[in-house]
Amino acid sequence: MQTRILVIGAKGQLGTVLTVALQKKYTLEHVIASDINEDKVYEGIFEALDATNKEQLTAVVQQYRITQIYHLAAVLSAKGEENPLFTWQLNMQTLFNVLEVAREQRIEKVFFPSSIAVFGAAAPLINTPVDAYLNPATVYGISKAAGENWAQYYYLRYGVDVRSIRYPGIIGYQSLPGGGTTDYAVDIYHKAVLEEAFTCFLKSDQALPMLFMEDAVRAAIELMEAPKEQLTIRTAYNIAGISIAPKDIEASIRKEYPSFHVAYAPDFRQEIAAKWPSSIDDSVAAHDWGWQSSYTLDTMTKVMIEKLRAYYQLDVAG
Ligand code: SER
Repeated sequence: MQTRILVIGAKGQLGTVLTVALQKKYTLEHVIASDINEDKVYEGIFEALDATNKEQLTAVVQQYRITQIYHLAAVLSAKGEENPLFTWQLNMQTLFNVLEVAREQRIEKVFFPSSIAVFGAAAPLINTPVDAYLNPATVYGISKAAGENWAQYYYLRYGVDVRSIRYPGIIGYQSLPGGGTTDYAVDIYHKAVLEEAFTCFLKSDQALPMLFMEDAVRAAIELMEAPKEQLTIRTAYNIAGISIAPKDIEASIRKEYPSFHVAYAPDFRQEIAAKWPSSIDDSVAAHDWGWQSSYTLDTMTKVMIEKLRAYYQLDVAG
């Protein structure tokens, strides 16, 4: 069967880059980008779609005879705390619509990203295993923990092939994150290449797991391509990239911009970060579908600086 993919949340931080990667792999006419936000021009097919509206979602799936859905839309951890019930409603309603449409329309595979936000105070902070006890402290984390279990439920009960990854913070030059606790790790690079000072909302030594965008995109595609019988986890896989604190990124950037200065003014996001793991055990993903991250902090910093300098049309390093 010809693969036809619908990406929901195609204009978000991950969606922006993942959509292009999927278009490259499956061609422009077989990838339908969709988002609630209509204001950017997309190469390829774009549909304005409110995924809380099941009829709209069904219509798009039927119109394009979709076989796979990547459901990336969600309100993230920090933004979610502003309006917990709205966040729960949006994150869960969109997921239920995707799961139900997948069941009804016999969608072949669904990708649903989960997050390290599912972990709370009860999980070990270092090398957190995939089966750690989950007691998330943010509404975003609660919605992802519930979502993982619903994903597994739809797989076991209805055979809907939902696949999921618990993403750490994602760092990329192509797009901006919005409303997350890990967003500082992208902003810091923009400030560095613009040679501006940066104020960080986390403590300097708050280590969190992070992943370079290229690895994040590759992980989604590799998991979706893995043979079904090799997958032993139907909630969500842990994946690890690099475990880094703001001061580590600061030091890495200073190798290129020696006068780069970071001030620290931790806010409520520090409380959120403190309950998340600082490093992740991804051995089950490595075993089941061969997951391996490929960037170190310094190789990532090099690419981030190079690409952002080109983006801002700056020629000479700091
Ligand atoms: N980057 C996300 C956040 O900070 C974690 O999944 O909310």
